[in-house]
Amino acid sequence: MRQNISDAEAEAKGLIASADSLEKLREIEPALFGKKAALGQLKRGLGGLEPDERREMGQALNAARQQIQQLLGDKRSTLETAARRVQLEAERLDLTEANAGRAWGHQHLISQTTQRLEDVFVGMGFEVAEGPEVEDDWHNFGSLNFPDDHPARAMQDTLYVDLNEPESTMLRTHTSPVQVRTMLNQKPPIYIVAPGRVYRRDTADATHFPVFHQIEGLVVDKGITMADLAGVLDEFTRAYFGHDIESRLRPSFFPFTEPSAEYDITDPNQRTGWLELGGCGMVHPNVLANCGIDPEVYTGFAFGFGIDRLAMMRHEVDDLREMYTNDLRFLSQF
Ligand code: DAH
Repeated sequence: MRQNISDAEAEAKGLIASADSLEKLREIEPALFGKKAALGQLKRGLGGLEPDERREMGQALNAARQQIQQLLGDKRSTLETAARRVQLEAERLDLTEANAGRAWGHQHLISQTTQRLEDVFVGMGFEVAEGPEVEDDWHNFGSLNFPDDHPARAMQDTLYVDLNEPESTMLRTHTSPVQVRTMLNQKPPIYIVAPGRVYRRDTADATHFPVFHQIEGLVVDKGITMADLAGVLDEFTRAYFGHDIESRLRPSFFPFTEPSAEYDITDPNQRTGWLELGGCGMVHPNVLANCGIDPEVYTGFAFGFGIDRLAMMRHEVDDLREMYTNDLRFLSQF
C-alpha cells in the first residue's frame, strides 16, 4: 500500500507539473482529489486493514494529500500571477507610444509671428498693451480725428454690433484705439506696442479676410521727432527681417497722424521692388489733446502694420485664406 501511495503521489505531481494554464489545473483537479482519484480509492481500501496498519497508512495518505494540495496551491498562484501579467500587458495604455511618429502641435503661424514681433519691440524697450475687440465709435474713430463723414466709418468697411444706438458699437477696424486707451490710462513717457485682431467688412480672397491682425506702436514723450520714428522702424526692420532688408517711408495720409507715411520694405523674395507693410506718422495734436495730453509739451509717433501680411511675406504664403481654414497640411509646415 505504501508503494501505491507514493505512486499516486508521483502521478499527481506529474499532472500538476504538466498543467500550463489555470483551465488545465481546474481540469485535473478531479483526477487528484475526486472519488475516482487514486488517493481516494486507496483511502477507501483502508477499511480492510489491521488497525495499526490502518493508522499508519491513513497518516501516509493524509501527508500525501497535504503535499499535493500544497503543490496545487503553489502552482495556482504561479499561473495566476502569469495570467495577470499577460492581461496587464494586453490592456496597457502607453501614451508615449500612441504619440510616437506623430508631430506635437504648435502655435499657429500668426501667433508665432506676433510673439516674434513682441520680442523684437520688447527688446527695444517697448511694453505690450491690449484693448477690447468690440469698440465704440469714439475710441475707434472720433478720438482718432476721423471726421464724421470719413468713408472708413461707412457700412461697407465696418462691422457694427447690434447694440445700443445704431452704428455706435463695432468690431474694431484697426488697433489704433489701443493708442487712445493707453494715453487715457497712462501718463507719458509711453512706449507700447499693441498686437491684436481687427475686423472689416471684406470679401475673403487671396489678400483680404474679414478678420486679420495688426500690431500698433505708440511712443509719446518730450522731444520725439520724425527722426525717432524712422530710427525705430529701421532698427525694427533689421532686427526682424535681417540686414539684407531695407525700409523706406513714403508720404501718405491718416487722420490721426501729421505728417503721415507708409512704411515699405524691400521684398525679401525679390519678386517686386517694395512691399507696403503699414502706416505711421507723428501723432496728430488733436489726438493727443483728445486723450488729455498737452501737445505743446509732448509729441509722439505711431505706426500700425498688418501681421498676417508680414507672416505671409516671411513664409512665402500666397493666399491669406490659408491662415484661417485650419488645414493641418498647411499649418504643420511652420
Ligand atoms: N490704423 C491704420 C490702418 O488700419 C494703420 C496705421 C496708420 C496705424 C498710421 C498707425 C499710424 O498707428 O500711425 O490702416
